[in-house]
Amino acid sequence: MDQAEKLRSMVKSQGETGQTQSKKLARVITVTSGKGGVGKSSIAINLAMQFRKKGKSVIIFDADFGLANIEVMFGAIPKYNLADMIFRGKNFKDIIVEGPEGIGFISGGSGINGLGNMNREQVQYLVYKLKELETLADVIIIDTGAGISDSVLEFVSSSGEVVLVTTPEPTSITDSYALLKALNARESFDKEICKIKVVANRVSNFDEGKNLFSKLEVVVSKFLQLDLMFLGVVPMDMNMSKSVMQQKPISMLYPNSTGAKAIEQIAVGLLENKEAEGPRRNGLARAVANIIKNGFKK
Ligand SMILES: Nc1ncnc2c1ncn2[C@@H]1O[C@H](COP(=O)(O)OP(=O)(O)OP(=O)(O)O)[C@@H](O)[C@H]1O
Ligand SMILES: [Mg+2]
Repeated sequence: MDQAEKLRSMVKSQGETGQTQSKKLARVITVTSGKGGVGKSSIAINLAMQFRKKGKSVIIFDADFGLANIEVMFGAIPKYNLADMIFRGKNFKDIIVEGPEGIGFISGGSGINGLGNMNREQVQYLVYKLKELETLADVIIIDTGAGISDSVLEFVSSSGEVVLVTTPEPTSITDSYALLKALNARESFDKEICKIKVVANRVSNFDEGKNLFSKLEVVVSKFLQLDLMFLGVVPMDMNMSKSVMQQKPISMLYPNSTGAKAIEQIAVGLLENKEAEGPRRNGLARAVANIIKNGFKK
């Protein structure tokens, strides 16, 4: 059964019975950055493609509420989003769109903004549904928006695994540091559980990326007492922007390009290095539940 069929049959059985067949929790990997425009969505989509190539079923959750990031790069426009599931009775089968290679895609839409208006039953229903979602795929990749907002920090601290994208641009390191500082100050963040893995994107060579990581690692371990893991580099590759124009991932259009190969290496690292694997802890449901809880507090 290919991934598309697998997803469809899982979604169908869930839709009919309200139950899922498999209860194994997905790896939830949140892709984030301190600075916008550094390549989060590109890396999220291409990691998804690479996981697919290795036989994993994958769902991308676009938590960049309001912006049509992933859908533009994916060429798959969802008719409904998360908000339609919460407020308008839509089910997973309505809100999961099938992208290239059968990768599932869910748009957060402007969902989170409306969450503060939910009543207790709606909140419970949403969290219950998101927990179910986490049994529908092997891997869920959350693509976050630009900037250090409360909801971005919550997605990061709630998921077991974080991919922090940084680049050699002057403010990228300080912005990454600012994100980690804000994260470290969060109640829901536990540095023993949530491991931060860094990708150096748009570098001219490996050493530039490694140096970038080392600089960040020094200040982060000194001032925040946090450990970072070096996941790898993605070189500057014009095929990356060309593929955005063509609305298809670089891993699909130019699978042998240096950019696609570099992301393949990163995916292999995530899959094969057991130390790189974080805990499976209902990261998506936990994040949304905490965002709602904090929203209510304000
Ligand atoms: N390694 C790379 N080489 C060349 N161009 C790249 C590379 N990575 C990303 N880009 C380009 O940089 C631009 C921004 O990338 P992308 O949209 O993935 O960033 P983002 O972090 O998701 O942005 P935002 O913060 O707005 O969501 C895109 O045009 C993309 O093609
Ligand atoms: Mg993006």
